[in-house]
Amino acid sequence: MSPSRSSAPGAAFLLGEHAVVYDEPALLFAVDRRATATVEASSEDDLPDSPYVREAIDRAREHADEDTPLAVEVSSSIPVGAGLGSSAAVSVATLHAAARELGETMGSERVADEAHEVERAVQGAASPADTYTSAVGGFTLVGNGKRRVDAPPTEFVVGYDGGSASTGEMVEGVARLVEDNPVAADIVGSIGDLSRRGVERAETGDFDSLGDLMDMNHGLLDALGVSSSSLSRMVWAARDAGGNAKLTGAGGAGCVVAYPAKDGVREAVASEAEETFAVSPAEGVRPE
Ligand code: MEV
Repeated sequence: MSPSRSSAPGAAFLLGEHAVVYDEPALLFAVDRRATATVEASSEDDLPDSPYVREAIDRAREHADEDTPLAVEVSSSIPVGAGLGSSAAVSVATLHAAARELGETMGSERVADEAHEVERAVQGAASPADTYTSAVGGFTLVGNGKRRVDAPPTEFVVGYDGGSASTGEMVEGVARLVEDNPVAADIVGSIGDLSRRGVERAETGDFDSLGDLMDMNHGLLDALGVSSSSLSRMVWAARDAGGNAKLTGAGGAGCVVAYPAKDGVREAVASEAEETFAVSPAEGVRPE
């Protein structure tokens, strides 16, 4: 028997990270950089040292009602802890491949729900934004409910500063601010308003005016204390070249997403980034 292999994409926030933890909407797209899980029945368990993988395997076994020992290998081209949903992609790919190896199919919506439980078990507070987007692919709107967004394909630029930050710590920092200062709670609500407007612009393919909302969103995330000098340098490089940009994910360090992926914006971001790449909305979890 050959092993079961599945891959799942990363995810970037166009609008709404952090606010989505407070059930405000967020607009995301699946990034065409993927994590791949290879799962094979074995004489004994051989799992990588990752709580996400171990938790995902436990949940796949529960789903399949089958506890066959498994050998699991995971590889990924998604920067880790950098705002592109690397742990969500690993959880989604592992669940999908393990369920198949155990003789069950797990549809993408079910994979999304199970992977969200994996993230909650491992990191505490986590919204379903990254896991849902990685499972179903394309553009998504996640908040009080979750759905795919029918928007035309386009290209964005990701700039990566080479750093990483703990999502849990960044989320806790915002929670403290929201508790201490009612203005921070208002900012969270305003970020939700940006996503509500942004989804209409995405659906009509008006990415230029969506970009204006991304700029505003970065300013509000900065006010919540989750930007950094290197993230802001990449954002300002994109703006100075006539584009729009914001940090993506938990912040602190990691990645920005910029638009458009042409007219010198990519080159400008590259001048401040350790790595830069163009991304377009990707297919969700799939067998390989
Ligand atoms: C992390 O990728 C995004 C946050 O909104 C946390 C979450 O949604 O779970 C900061």
